[in-house]
Amino acid sequence: MTADAVNTGISLGMPQLPAPDFPAEVRARLEADAQEVIARYPDSRSALLPLLHLTQSEEGYVSRTGIRFCAEVLGLTTAEVTAVATFYTMYRRKPSGDYQVGVCTNTLCAVMGGDAIFDELKEHLGVGNNETTPDGKVTLEHIECNAACDYAPVVMVNWEFFDNQTPASAKALVDDLRAGRPVEPTRGAPLCTFKDTARILAGFPDGREGAVEASGGAGPASLIGLRIARGESPHAPVVRPRAETGTEGGE
Ligand code: FES
Repeated sequence: MTADAVNTGISLGMPQLPAPDFPAEVRARLEADAQEVIARYPDSRSALLPLLHLTQSEEGYVSRTGIRFCAEVLGLTTAEVTAVATFYTMYRRKPSGDYQVGVCTNTLCAVMGGDAIFDELKEHLGVGNNETTPDGKVTLEHIECNAACDYAPVVMVNWEFFDNQTPASAKALVDDLRAGRPVEPTRGAPLCTFKDTARILAGFPDGREGAVEASGGAGPASLIGLRIARGESPHAPVVRPRAETGTEGGE
C-alpha cells in the first residue's frame, strides 16, 4: 500500500480487513444521534450526508469506521457510502486540524490575491495543500468558489467567511488560531472548531448565543445589484464604455 493509501484509508492493492467499529459507548451515542437524523427523512438513505457530517464531528474526518457506521445504520454497502464520502469535498479523508483554513483560489479570488495568500500561507505554516501543522491546529487547503466573489480574496475557516484578505492578514489569522486567540469572521456566525461545525452541519442545534441570528445575512457588496435593480441605489458603472477609454479601434 502506498503512503497516500495509508493516509486516506483507500487500499489500491490487497483487500483490507473490515474496519473496526467505534468503541461501544461512542457507537451507542452516535446511534442515538443517527436515529434522530434518520427520522427526518421519508427514506433513511437520504440521511447519508448529515450522517457523514455526524461521524466527522466525532473523529474530525470520515474514517473507515465512520463509513462502516453509516452503512450499517442506513442499510447501505460501505462501497455506496464511500462513493458519496469521496465525491464531496466537505468530507475529509484523513485526520486533520481543529481549524480548516481554506483559501479560495478560484478565478476571481486568485487574480485578486488568493494565489499569493495560498503561497504565503504554505511557506508561513510549513505545510502543503491539505496538510496539517504539527500542533494539530490548522489544516490548509485551497478551495473552490464559495460564492463570495464580491469579497475576494476570501479565506474560509471552518466554512466561516474572512473577506477581503491579504497575505499579511491571512498570516495573522492563522497565527491567532494557532495561539488560541479569539478571531471573528467578517460576517456570519462566530467561529467554532471543525468538529463542532460538523455537528451543526449534521443538523443539530447551534447553541452558541447569537449564532443563528448572525448567520443569515448577505453583506452590502452582495446586495448592491439587487438594490440597483430596485432603484434603491444609483447605478455606478464599474466599467467605462469603450468610447470613453480612448482605445476604441486601437486594440
Ligand atoms: S472566486 Fe473566490 S469566492 Fe468566488
